[in-house]
Amino acid sequence: MPEDFTSVLKEKRIFKPSKEFSGNAHIKSLQEYKKIYKKSIENPEKFWAEKADQLHWFKKWKKVLGSNKDFFKWFEGGKINVCYNCLDKNIAEGKENKVAIIWEAEDGQTKTYTYSELLQEVSKFSNVLKAHNLKKGDRVCIYLPMIPELAIAMLACARIGLIHSIVFGGFSSESLKDRINDCNAKLIVTSDGGFRNGKIIPLKENIDRALKGCPSVKKVIVVKRCKNKISMKKNRDCWFHDEMSKPKIDDTCKAIEMDSEDPLFILYTSGTTGKPKGVLHTQAGYLLYVYQTFKWIFDIRDDDIYWCTADIGWITGHSYIIYGPLSNGATSLMYEGGLTYPHPDRFWRIVEKYKVTIFYTAPTAIRALMRYGDKWPKARSLKSLRLLGTVGESINPKAWMWYYNIIGNKRCPIVDTWWQTETGGILITPLPGATPIKPGSATLPFPGIVPEVLRENGSKTNVDEGGYLVIKKPWPGMLRAVWHNPKRYEKTYFGKFKNTYLAGDSARKDKDGYFWIMGRIDDVIKVAGHRLGTAEVESHIVSHKAVAEAAVVPIPDKIKGQAIYAFVTLKKGIKATDNLKKDIIMHVADNMGHIAKPSKLQFADDLPKTRSGKIMRRVLKEIAKGTKEYGNIATLADPSVVKILEKRVIK
Ligand code: PRX
Repeated sequence: MPEDFTSVLKEKRIFKPSKEFSGNAHIKSLQEYKKIYKKSIENPEKFWAEKADQLHWFKKWKKVLGSNKDFFKWFEGGKINVCYNCLDKNIAEGKENKVAIIWEAEDGQTKTYTYSELLQEVSKFSNVLKAHNLKKGDRVCIYLPMIPELAIAMLACARIGLIHSIVFGGFSSESLKDRINDCNAKLIVTSDGGFRNGKIIPLKENIDRALKGCPSVKKVIVVKRCKNKISMKKNRDCWFHDEMSKPKIDDTCKAIEMDSEDPLFILYTSGTTGKPKGVLHTQAGYLLYVYQTFKWIFDIRDDDIYWCTADIGWITGHSYIIYGPLSNGATSLMYEGGLTYPHPDRFWRIVEKYKVTIFYTAPTAIRALMRYGDKWPKARSLKSLRLLGTVGESINPKAWMWYYNIIGNKRCPIVDTWWQTETGGILITPLPGATPIKPGSATLPFPGIVPEVLRENGSKTNVDEGGYLVIKKPWPGMLRAVWHNPKRYEKTYFGKFKNTYLAGDSARKDKDGYFWIMGRIDDVIKVAGHRLGTAEVESHIVSHKAVAEAAVVPIPDKIKGQAIYAFVTLKKGIKATDNLKKDIIMHVADNMGHIAKPSKLQFADDLPKTRSGKIMRRVLKEIAKGTKEYGNIATLADPSVVKILEKRVIK
């Protein structure tokens, strides 16, 4: 939690959109929003059907929303193609020469793709995938840096009905292996490496290590990005550029007709228990939801240059770098590389160079950039900006004010967007021309969304009383399944309150109906906005040969929001040394990824456990934070453990 999070609770300032912004916006006033919202809730099917009419359908749906039993089915009977809606439809509407993607690489290389150029590349790659005998419903794992081939590969999958599963380039071999095996991917698209902060990330090496344990994978297509020396396995590995230039690879490919509820992609995300879960999104509902949210929340206009700084390996990149922007015919900027590379003005140089108008980033990035001082953004022209956004965690008022004053020059509304991998798109957010903003609050629900805050017994909380954040009605972008694990789906999301989606966050609602997100209620840690499960990190620590047991808890971090604090007990006879500590931390980085590295690791002889042997994380959290508000610890098997750990805590 950010250091000044408690002040969020007392935040009273309100920022209204300027007349100029509202006058030109899609939704121009709070009254207009309220009217639309009311209608959307009274008759959701009518509301979503009207919106769905904006998309291209091969065949119109029969039913907007499935029956009670299958309440999560949207637009059944309809035939649609997501890639067609992102490319062909825009071309048919005269945007063939409009830039779809602007790409800037860390090393300064740039490339742009118009809608028709992108369609040509995507069609070619669809044909490459077909040539490798992939059929509708097969899974393709994409493990690439932020390069255009990533967009091309995912759109090519969507064009011919393959299900993509993108793994963030910051994950290493063991995490990759779990994700590949869970969905039995047949083919991998990767690269010889990627650039980050001047260093090369060895993506292909990670793939080679992972594939020792992935029998389903038959082919690996490798993009040449770094001229990095890698080994290519005979009959398994081939180069992307070779495949694309084969004479038999045609540059047109028909987009196939998909059923509305056919799978589009799987994206793995962390939860309470061990392995990450494969969140499944389907075609029509997901597309419609990202289309409509992108249009209204980012208030998109034809001449906008839109930049979302997320990585496509996370849901934000799927929904708001690719599918949302492209289905709206927008120009979306993709940046590969470090936030401050080579200098802390990299982001602001990009804004200046491309005259970015809409900028969407994470609080962790804002805090990191704020630390370098105002001189970096002030030296660049940011006057093209008209709208700012944040996502991934709560934004503390100090960072919010800096973003508003220094980056937005007090002109730009900030949309603080609350959502999750599972929700497909943004659920709680201001509409920039309509909603008065309170710094730190994600404000009000998007039309069609019915959030509520509940007590343990399912009753509604009072004004400002914290509770479980839930969504009471289905919406088109919601996840449809946890891949091959229906029980986990039911239990995680619908197990606590009947027919009600449990978000896993706590929140409160103020007197104006504004939502304030307070943090996770489960064992998920948000490190720099990235979602990590404690159980997953712990299993990687325990896989080190010297370790007997491990427990990780979040601690507040000024930049990253939260960081990981690990308590580790060693196997009998092994000495706790600084070198061993470093080795365990590197072991986590090598196997899971650098993002999961504990920032502090404390060796312990014993961990606080109940008499039945359960580790009491609540107590460990207090020890790590140094707050010592343990509550009742009488149930501990050995309460003296607490004092011992307290003494050795790493400050
Ligand atoms: O805890 C909430 C936090 O991020 C979680 C979802 O993480 P993930 O699935 O990785 O998706 C992140 C990007 C959509 C949520 O359960 N979160 C996300 N946005 C916000 C937020 N917390 C506070 N304010 C937000 N705007």
